[in-house]
Amino acid sequence: MASSPEPERYGALAQALHWLTAVLVLVAFIYGPGGSEQAIYLPSRDADRQLHESLGLCVFILAFVRLAWRAVAKRPDPPKMPAWLGVAAKAGHGALYVLMFALPITAVSGAWLEGHPLTLLGGLQVAPPVEKSHAFGAWLANLHTWLGDAIMWLAGLHALAALYHHFVLKDGVLRSMLPRRLMKS
Ligand code: HEM
Ligand code: HEM
Repeated sequence: MASSPEPERYGALAQALHWLTAVLVLVAFIYGPGGSEQAIYLPSRDADRQLHESLGLCVFILAFVRLAWRAVAKRPDPPKMPAWLGVAAKAGHGALYVLMFALPITAVSGAWLEGHPLTLLGGLQVAPPVEKSHAFGAWLANLHTWLGDAIMWLAGLHALAALYHHFVLKDGVLRSMLPRRLMKS
């Protein structure tokens, strides 16, 4: 009881945006189109690619909304922890934000420079507004696949850190990102 006082929590909107982003990133990763460029853009793979691109663009939009909300909403003060852990947490969160922007930007610019339209759910297509520069586009598309792996590794470490806070440090960090009714303090 004494070791686990009621933590301050992120607000409902910040929590909802956080968990929605986590689910969208995971599903986008699972549906990430792999293989050669020809294979990725086969009509038979339209559905998976459309789902992947649509989810990825939602992550992009949510990243803007999150940062805007973060700038105005009150956030919980971090608990007392070793300085290195505080620095690592800040760096990790910063890198996750960077990836939430870098993933869609590399994907969209890569596809357009390769000469492919964006293909979204509902058959919506957005033709390239830029001139084709295939080699650079392919390089960006390849970078995108690496960044896709990177966000999963980083999110995995981030989740482990949250569990470390909860079960080892026994502070309120994980609970601060969970609704009160889900987890009794
Ligand atoms: C959070 C957002 C995203 C994540 C986590 C993500 C993840 C990935 C991953 C891991 C791959 C490689 C799959 C494999 O090699 O098996 C991939 C490929 C791809 N993604 Fe994304 N992606 C995201 C957003 C987007 C968006 C917004 C688009 C829109 C154009 C997009 C378009 C593509 C395309 C076209 C490929 C194939 C690239 C190539 O090899 O030429 N992705 N993505
Ligand atoms: C793709 C998946 C994920 C992404 C992109 C992500 C991203 C982030 C970001 C950027 C923050 C910082 C919030 C801010 O200050 O604005 C954060 C906080 C947090 N996340 Fe995640 N997260 C993901 C998955 C998870 C998972 C799976 C867990 C738990 C198992 C988790 C637990 C937390 C907790 C507890 C915080 C609060 C940390 C603190 O205030 O020090 N996250 N997340």
